[in-house]
Amino acid sequence: MPPKTLIDPFGRTVDYIRVSVTDRCDFRCVYCMAEHMTFLPKAELLSLEELEQVCRNFMALGTRKIRLTGGEPLVRRNIMHLIRNLGSEVKAGNLEELTITTNGSQLHKMADELVDAGVKRLNISIDTLDPDRFREITRWGDLDNVLEGLEAAKRAGLAIKLNAVALKGVNEFDLGNMVAWAGDQGFDMTIIEVMPMGDIGNENRVDQYLPLSQVRAELSKRFTLTDNNFQTPGPARYVTVEETGRRLGFITPLTHNFCESCNRVRVTCTGQLYMCLGQDDNADLAKALRNGGEDGLRDAIIEAIGRKPKGHDFVISRRAPNAAVARHMNVTGG
Ligand code: 5AD
Ligand code: SF4
Repeated sequence: MPPKTLIDPFGRTVDYIRVSVTDRCDFRCVYCMAEHMTFLPKAELLSLEELEQVCRNFMALGTRKIRLTGGEPLVRRNIMHLIRNLGSEVKAGNLEELTITTNGSQLHKMADELVDAGVKRLNISIDTLDPDRFREITRWGDLDNVLEGLEAAKRAGLAIKLNAVALKGVNEFDLGNMVAWAGDQGFDMTIIEVMPMGDIGNENRVDQYLPLSQVRAELSKRFTLTDNNFQTPGPARYVTVEETGRRLGFITPLTHNFCESCNRVRVTCTGQLYMCLGQDDNADLAKALRNGGEDGLRDAIIEAIGRKPKGHDFVISRRAPNAAVARHMNVTGG
């Protein structure tokens, strides 16, 4: 009999998966991608049916939460088909939550459909409210379009958390305005330290890196930030912004080790299961499924969780300024 829950060698229950459904994106954020990216050939991607099989087998092994990521998940053709099928499991009570991390570019037209499918929460990546800087960071993005999407998502009743990556000398002094705006809008917000993932062309990680201790100190000049004991099994530490009453999270992979309570694993759009965002060890679920059917898939998942590592080894240093792990965030998902 296969187990009903997945427990790793360090006693952590793995009940949350993040699934990247495409490596493609309609933005080219400077910390994520080079401007001229070569994407994977379509044939290497898991089909939508295979993605669903992977999700369903994890669910049979106790997964309660699924997050779809990318790339930009909402640009994958027919993605609503997968979202509807997984959403129906939420409606049936077989899955606690289906969430999506998105750059917001498609929300002006998809927000209502998402709600209808059973999605209740979104994480929306937005690093600044300044239109020029937004263009500079995303290279191809249009702030007005994203704001329109946010408005549509809010109107549709989706709970929204904003994710902002802190970039030295770029958006570092925009974050205060974002915290205030998120408060007005009723959105939670998380600030993320830039992580060393994937070659990003001419950009340099050392130049981008801004420790969140500095961000917090800067924000404290304008807001009263009170430590909050709200705790998720994820990597964020939270404060309450007293002026707005909203929660603000800090994700500090480099200055704070959050691995003890990690409950998650990641599946790439090609079907590799990564047991840790910051380690290269993985299991080829696509091969397991294609050669061994669903039994093979399930065995491969169980075997892989048996070697989930204790933690990551991220460092950004002058000697190794770029990628600590070679793969890009858009392949693994954030
Ligand atoms: N470091 C930190 N965050 C990143 N993201 C993408 N690449 C990186 C990186 N190198 C963020 C996106 C999004 C989430 C999925 O991950 O901005 O919020
Ligand atoms: Fe696209 Fe997100 Fe990467 Fe930006 S960070 S290029 S929105 S996947």
